[in-house]
Amino acid sequence: LDNGLARTPQMGWNDWNTFFCNINESLIRQTADVMVSSGMAAAGYKYVNIDDCWSTMSRDANGDLVADPQKFPSGMKALADYVHGKGLKLGIYSSAGTTTCAGYPASLGYERRDAALWASWGIDYLKYDNCGDHQGRSGQQRYTAMRDALAATGRPIVYSLCNWGQESVWTWGMPVGNSWRTTGDIAANWNSVMGILDQQVGLEAYSGPGGWNDPDMLEVGVGALTATEGRAHFSLWSLLNAPLIAGNDIRSMSAETRSILTNTEVIAVNQDWGGRQGHKISDSGNLEVWRKPMANGSVAVVLLNRGTSTSTVSTTASALGLGSASAYSVRDLWAHTTSSSSGTISASVPGHGAAMYIVTGGGIVPTPTVAIKGVGSGR
Ligand code: DGJ
Repeated sequence: LDNGLARTPQMGWNDWNTFFCNINESLIRQTADVMVSSGMAAAGYKYVNIDDCWSTMSRDANGDLVADPQKFPSGMKALADYVHGKGLKLGIYSSAGTTTCAGYPASLGYERRDAALWASWGIDYLKYDNCGDHQGRSGQQRYTAMRDALAATGRPIVYSLCNWGQESVWTWGMPVGNSWRTTGDIAANWNSVMGILDQQVGLEAYSGPGGWNDPDMLEVGVGALTATEGRAHFSLWSLLNAPLIAGNDIRSMSAETRSILTNTEVIAVNQDWGGRQGHKISDSGNLEVWRKPMANGSVAVVLLNRGTSTSTVSTTASALGLGSASAYSVRDLWAHTTSSSSGTISASVPGHGAAMYIVTGGGIVPTPTVAIKGVGSGR
């Protein structure tokens, strides 16, 4: 969406993956505090996003949504002021149907009214879900109506579509939203993360500056996901140009979780807007190689081991599209070390783990020409 926002994938936090409906204003304030004190803000995280369950069960006499006075006693405007005071942005949630997934009132038919209310509060980001009755309208119609309502407010508001990949949203998402969910909900376990990964194959042609494929929010540091799995998940989501929306309780995260989420070398791959979304180049059983051409001609690579025991995963500079040279520089984005290679890129990767590198060499490879599909005049 050509609204000047999310020219690189948006970065932030959302309460759903850890707190579900158990939310309130102290959680949001404390999270904003920790976003700054933990170094996440400095690493690029900016949006603090409220998900489902923030309102009362009915609209007021004017027809406006009302923030639950028990959960948000100071009101949303005061909360936005607080978050803005930290140099961060505040996000809210609704659905392109008659109700949200948790049964609260939602925005179908109230697009202008709700967008105007959020803008008056100082909201900077909308996640727009797909629950409730659709009154016979297509996703494209319902999501476009909210795009137009947000634009009419005149306030810059990142617009995140959440219709779970329905109606092949990637084919019409670019002129409508800043990102679009490509799948159903992620869960905090390895099988879920891998299942979502598999559904990203082939979608790389549809994303670009202003509009990103969204394989759902991060589960790093949540539930049963181990640190090794978390590093693989973060490596892959970065390579996929996914919005990086942390879903853990950052107030109590371990030093290890924090170091994963704030790995600025991995984040730099995600934020390399001149490059293309990464994609899978080889797949042999449990061992996969994914690559992303970077704007400066280098190539980011993820060596993934989906099996349960340590295995060697390998590729070559020429398979990565780096031509042939006598030597390549290989930067390890997790070990933060640089080595040189004559052309083989190889690592011993633990089960459910990944290695991630930037490989440079073979002369200056021109910036890849990006052919983005689905780009209409609205972009
Ligand atoms: C479904 C979405 O896909 C989730 O991310 C979350 O927003 C829930 N709805 C909230 O009910």
